[in-house]
Amino acid sequence: MRILGIETSCDETGVAIYDSEKGLIADILYSQIATHAKFGGVVPELASRDHIKKLSPLIHEALDFAKLTLRDIDAIAYTAGPGLIGALLVGAALGASLGFALNIPTIPINHLEAHLLAIFLETKQPTFPFLTLLVSGGNTQLVQVEKIGSYKLLGETLDDAAGEAFDKVAKILGLPYPGGVALTKLAIHGNPKRFRFPRPMTNRSGLEFSFSGLKTFAANTLHANCADEQTKADIAYAFQDAITDTLVIKCKRAMQFANLSQLTIAGGVSANQELRRKLQKMADQEGWQTYFPNPKFCTDNGAMIAYAGYQNFISDKIRTNLEINVFPRWPM
Ligand code: KG4
Repeated sequence: MRILGIETSCDETGVAIYDSEKGLIADILYSQIATHAKFGGVVPELASRDHIKKLSPLIHEALDFAKLTLRDIDAIAYTAGPGLIGALLVGAALGASLGFALNIPTIPINHLEAHLLAIFLETKQPTFPFLTLLVSGGNTQLVQVEKIGSYKLLGETLDDAAGEAFDKVAKILGLPYPGGVALTKLAIHGNPKRFRFPRPMTNRSGLEFSFSGLKTFAANTLHANCADEQTKADIAYAFQDAITDTLVIKCKRAMQFANLSQLTIAGGVSANQELRRKLQKMADQEGWQTYFPNPKFCTDNGAMIAYAGYQNFISDKIRTNLEINVFPRWPM
């Protein structure tokens, strides 16, 4: 069977087709970075308008790429949340309407579940159970994945998500949106010995995170020093070092707490090379297995929605044709 996946939860329009026998047969992404860059962040209304413009042409492009027509699609999966409500509604409305017109099922997908399952788009796959560090612009969670559909939240952030912290510190340093990647590039030129930032909440037990203090620490460090380019690079380095260390420390704790031996990562921040390097080092020391998705499946994409749609379809979850429900907040 073939599932068309639609992702419009934030500032990326993603369309993909997953074939249960051949795997991913089309995967197209349009990023709205250029639209939002001049505003220094995502403008929800502009995001919705851009999705409206791009979604239909991208669906045609994906079908052409796979040499298929809409009639060859067996079900449509779309992101129903969490995300920006207007942006979600664009994908949900088009997905549900297409499903109705074609008389095929439509499957609302939880974006966070899709991030968790993205690892199954790779050839090297974990077996159940495993731990996932889910780190994106809106979430930082440690999730014990028992099987598809069974997720236990072991810990999460009490304030800013890791991606949000990257973006806010990038803004403080005067870097362009999207900040995470820009900060990572600046950090390469940083002097590792100049500043040391705290590793929040690591000196007490528990699996919770808190990143909002790091942002203040970065701002105070910048104000207390001459704000030249080298200082900014040094702060970028110190911030990235602190946040990745903190994520690794909590991951190790969660692996030990849940007695797991396989670790996967998901979400935009999991594309971070420094985080991957440190997680790999920890796993090697502990004798654990790691499973890292291709960075293109870490940030928002249609492929993970199509795959999650397939898994939801075969597990026979309720699906609708006419009802359009979206959820700006939607825990897994
Ligand atoms: O998963 P994602 O594409 O969107 C959602 O939040 O759902 O994650 C986007 C976040 C942004 O905060 C972005 O700055 C961050 O992921 N990000 C990174 C990197 N690539 C994306 N943060 C650190 N290092 C990266 N290489």
